[in-house]
Amino acid sequence: MSNTPDTPLRQPRRVEQLVTGERTSDGAGVKLTRVLSGPALQRRLDPFLMLDAFGSDEAADYIGGFPDHPHRGFETVTYMIAGRMRHRDSAGHEGLLTNGSVQWMTAGRGLVHSELPEQEEGRMEGFQLWLNLPGRDKLCTPWYRDIANEEIPEFTQAGVRVRVIGGRSHGVDGAVQRAHTEPIYLDIHLDPGHGFEQALPAGHNAFVYVYRGDARVGGDDGPTVTAGRMAILANEPQADGVRLQAGAAPTRVLLVAGQPLSEPIAQYGPFVMNTREELYQAIEDFNAGRLR
Ligand code: CO
Repeated sequence: MSNTPDTPLRQPRRVEQLVTGERTSDGAGVKLTRVLSGPALQRRLDPFLMLDAFGSDEAADYIGGFPDHPHRGFETVTYMIAGRMRHRDSAGHEGLLTNGSVQWMTAGRGLVHSELPEQEEGRMEGFQLWLNLPGRDKLCTPWYRDIANEEIPEFTQAGVRVRVIGGRSHGVDGAVQRAHTEPIYLDIHLDPGHGFEQALPAGHNAFVYVYRGDARVGGDDGPTVTAGRMAILANEPQADGVRLQAGAAPTRVLLVAGQPLSEPIAQYGPFVMNTREELYQAIEDFNAGRLR
């Protein structure tokens, strides 16, 4: 954890790259935007492997959900903004994700789970972030926690509400802390024209994803990032955090940062290991029914 004070920043990080997600579908036909994926972004944003954003008022876009599928070697963090999603896994865990709640699941050595909507109409909106595990922990015992909306630590500043899902912000400990990757995961709600600063350790890879309104990211000459876009923040050693400034509309931003693992990434779908041999083992274990 960083001991640097959160504000004021000496110098905000600048935006290195803007990314527009790719519209696709996954599971049983769930429409989503894959914001972070692919080897190049996985290396750049190590320890983060994937960010999916889903949001629709049309049941046909989400009703199929994500039937039984395996995971091994990393963590999934699902954040529901709106809707009801039921989770069941082969380790016997079951939970209901509802408005504002988070599910933090460490797949570790592996499990099979389903994520299925528990509604037939109305809005379904949220995010799933994949966070890598260090090689030594990839085969750890699976771990799982549902964090209800009211259990997520929050604080406010003038015109700003911050939900601290992971890590620490302005003296507030988030719902989940992790060694090695030291993830910071904030959901920041800004009233029009209001700003927010967050200190970040220089070594952390970091990005912001705007999902309502728009925000200027970086210094006074930083770009305005509109809803649906991800801004990758540069890692210059003299820059000590991120500065956000909302535009004329109510704005919501995810801020995600973590300590890179700097290990080889070998991925085959829902298995993320360090080597091809470990991937083959994962597939063999899954086919033999050993992921449970
Ligand atoms: Co899953």
